Amino acid sequence: MASIQLEASDRLETMRLVVDAELEALIENEVENGAGQVAELCGSMLLAGGKRLRPLLILLAYEIAGGLDEDEIMPLALAFELIHTATLVHDDINDEASHRRGIETIHTRVGIPKAVIAGDWLFVQGFGLGGRYEEHIVRIMAQCCADIATSEFDQLDHVLNLATSPEDYLSIVRGKTAGPFSAGCHAAGLVAGLSEEKALALKRFGMELGIAFQLVDDLLDLRGDERMGKPRGADVLEGKMTLPLIHALTLSHGAERIRLAEIIEDFSDENFDELMYLLTRSDSMNYAKILVQTHLERAISELSHFEESEAKQHMLRIAEYVMNREM
Ligand code: IPE
Ligand code: IPE
Ligand code: MG
Ligand code: MG
Ligand code: MG
Repeated sequence: MASIQLEASDRLETMRLVVDAELEALIENEVENGAGQVAELCGSMLLAGGKRLRPLLILLAYEIAGGLDEDEIMPLALAFELIHTATLVHDDINDEASHRRGIETIHTRVGIPKAVIAGDWLFVQGFGLGGRYEEHIVRIMAQCCADIATSEFDQLDHVLNLATSPEDYLSIVRGKTAGPFSAGCHAAGLVAGLSEEKALALKRFGMELGIAFQLVDDLLDLRGDERMGKPRGADVLEGKMTLPLIHALTLSHGAERIRLAEIIEDFSDENFDELMYLLTRSDSMNYAKILVQTHLERAISELSHFEESEAKQHMLRIAEYVMNREM
């Protein structure tokens, strides 16, 4: 999966292995301390092979900001991965997803009540680590989590709302996906001792990269890419209004607009080819692809505030990876 593409850069691969080892040690420690099944279940999902983009970006943002002590930033990197995994456990309950990271989701294995608690456990573990930092860092984390909740509510309120605008979509994506990238990079810069002004460049970098990342995630869902580990069109089935759909609904007219609305409102896989035909007619996949590029360019331009360094090269590489994931 991701690791195959990321391994072009040995340093990134090494960093990823360090993060994995830290997470494994954390879970082992919890199991030894008697946390039992909840720790084991959470550990199975945590260690099932996520791409670790958030912790990698946090470690790199700290480095680009002049931070020299990996021990100082590692708890924050792990905190964001734990919180991210918590949101995935809860997201999969709501989205009725059977698989995640190549394994069965927690609620599929042990039922929804335990999966809700498992997600909470992961959240709390994340805050246990992130809570060691100064108050302004903890506030950034808390605000980021609050924004995830707000935007997930907003997304639920827009299910099958065919009048959803690109602005609605972007606002949801900023909260649920880009916010954590942004908060992580911002906080990492501050921990390294950056001025607020310079740390804001990292915050914007994370936001733009995160928007591009979710746009690509949504495009891959429509592509039916096997790397997603779920059937094509799962978002459409969920009633999630992603940008290609919003764009196509705006641009189509007459019988095609009516048919598009019908397919979205009552989607099944047998309509997939017709949906793709209609999305192509309005050039909606390309529209989303162009936006991916725009947001990545904005992300990259924020890095011009920082001197050339190995860390900067790796951050650019991650931006490139986000782009190529979609090709
Ligand atoms: C999945 O995030 C949820 C989205 C924001 C689209 P990732 O694609 O980063 O998931 P993992 O951590 O690699 O499993
Ligand atoms: C991202 O949304 C989930 C969160 C940020 C909580 P999705 O619902 O698109 O994530 P996937 O596609 O299931 O990974
Ligand atoms: Mg979801
Ligand atoms: Mg989901
Ligand atoms: Mg998705």
